[in-house]
Amino acid sequence: MKKTALITGAATRLGKELALALADREYDVIIHYNRSTEEAQQTAAKAEAKGSQAFLLQKDLTADVSGLVSQAQELCSGSLALLINSASCYESGQIRDTTVDQFDRIFQTNLRAPFFLAQEFRAEAGSGQIINILDNKIHFAQFAYSAYALSKKALADLTLLAAREFAPDIRVNGIAPGVILPQKNRSQEYLTWRLDNIPLKRKGHVADIIHALDFLLRSDFLTGQIITVDGGESIQPAGRDFTGYGSE
Ligand SMILES: NC(=O)c1ccc[n+]([C@@H]2O[C@H](COP(=O)([O-])OP(=O)(O)OC[C@H]3O[C@@H](n4cnc5c(N)ncnc54)[C@H](OP(=O)(O)O)[C@@H]3O)[C@@H](O)[C@H]2O)c1
Repeated sequence: MKKTALITGAATRLGKELALALADREYDVIIHYNRSTEEAQQTAAKAEAKGSQAFLLQKDLTADVSGLVSQAQELCSGSLALLINSASCYESGQIRDTTVDQFDRIFQTNLRAPFFLAQEFRAEAGSGQIINILDNKIHFAQFAYSAYALSKKALADLTLLAAREFAPDIRVNGIAPGVILPQKNRSQEYLTWRLDNIPLKRKGHVADIIHALDFLLRSDFLTGQIITVDGGESIQPAGRDFTGYGSE
């Protein structure tokens, strides 16, 4: 029987690319989405064109997610072997500006949902892998995205806790992307500034994330690890750059 992957937020952008890459790797896929119904249908059609079975699963992850993994298990007749938590609520806001509603929305989507999806995956699937999609912001104190950054830092810790608790049956790892698919509203000026501070001097490609996915899929001796795929941005000190200061 083919293995099935449940990918949250898989209608568009990076989640879609992960789902299609899995379809290329002989997984059947369950495309979770919230509002992007048409895009989810298109992603499913593309996965099916690759020879996979594709199922659609709609859910607002700010709500209670209990029962979602068991619904997924029913759709794929019990072949669930991989959960990818990719859906995310990406909103800026310094601590001083963040409302309780915004904080809750971000934490419900980015932390509470992956927490309870992982819990139910353990109970329902019993074995396999979980991959949490993080953000290289876990390595910074980027206060302009205070709640978002905190939610991803907490999801990074959840990755480690779940890896400990669910071993040896389920491996749990994370991928922390840097600049891969910038949001559409980003200006060229912003992107130039970001890329200038990336040691490898370029933005990442979807393929860079898929390489990390491939590595995690086949690395049977790996759990509790986070692969940061960001061209070295997170090892570039955000403060004073000592290049050119000689021996000072
Ligand atoms: N893109 C990048 O370069 C980048 C960089 C760093 C980290 N990441 C991480 O990589 C992952 C994918 O990135 P992305 O840019 O593709 O994400 P995105 O476009 O910001 O969001 C992905 C999906 O999340 C879903 N979502 C948001 N709120 C939801 C809710 N309340 N309930 C259910 N689904 C919800 C949306 O589904 P619907 O459209 O169906 O509503 C959306 O399509 C995220 O975890 C992100 O933090 C991405």
